[in-house]
Amino acid sequence: MQRYELLLLENKAWAKEMRETDPDYFERLVNVQKPDFLWIGCSDSRVPPDKITQTQPGEIFIHRNIANMVVHTDLNLLSVLQYAVEVLKVKHIIVCGHYNCGGVKAAMNRHSYGIINKWLRNIKDVYRYHQQEIDRLPTEEERLNRLIELNIKEQVLNLAKTSIVQKAWKEYNQPHLHGWVYDLHDGIIRPLLDMPANSHLDFPIYEYDDL
Ligand code: CO
Repeated sequence: MQRYELLLLENKAWAKEMRETDPDYFERLVNVQKPDFLWIGCSDSRVPPDKITQTQPGEIFIHRNIANMVVHTDLNLLSVLQYAVEVLKVKHIIVCGHYNCGGVKAAMNRHSYGIINKWLRNIKDVYRYHQQEIDRLPTEEERLNRLIELNIKEQVLNLAKTSIVQKAWKEYNQPHLHGWVYDLHDGIIRPLLDMPANSHLDFPIYEYDDL
């Protein structure tokens, strides 16, 4: 049997088990999607959002990309964000990065990776904002992990800078924004930054006053 065929077999077994333990399970999920959370995470296969938070189908709306970025020109991210905030009305948005992130690591050196350079450029910009703080750290691993943390915080701020989030803050007093980092060594998620609705930004120029 091919490896991919096993996935399909496992899927059948899972669906059967779910039906047996809860006959109405799929019927309920077909009719409604009302997650409280939008998760913006890294594509890394070692950081599966539902597994590490023990959440069930229907509980988290998920967007993943390399290094959990919130890029303000990324139509994919913005579409997910707008739908999550305006239609699903999620109460929380979690940006969850992780230590040992290959995307951030790739952005920290001067090697050219082709098309991915365009994406990594956003992380290099975060490095530039915080270069003094990062370069002061003695080891490469510490510098990498600090940039990972600062990058997560920057992406939370990027969410707060969108008119989508600011409009929802004004109208519904939600969503609450969170920056979390996952540690591959112990499986623990540690909160880094917390932005309740209507938090102010360091630079008022990003706050729209006519939404
Ligand atoms: Co990663």
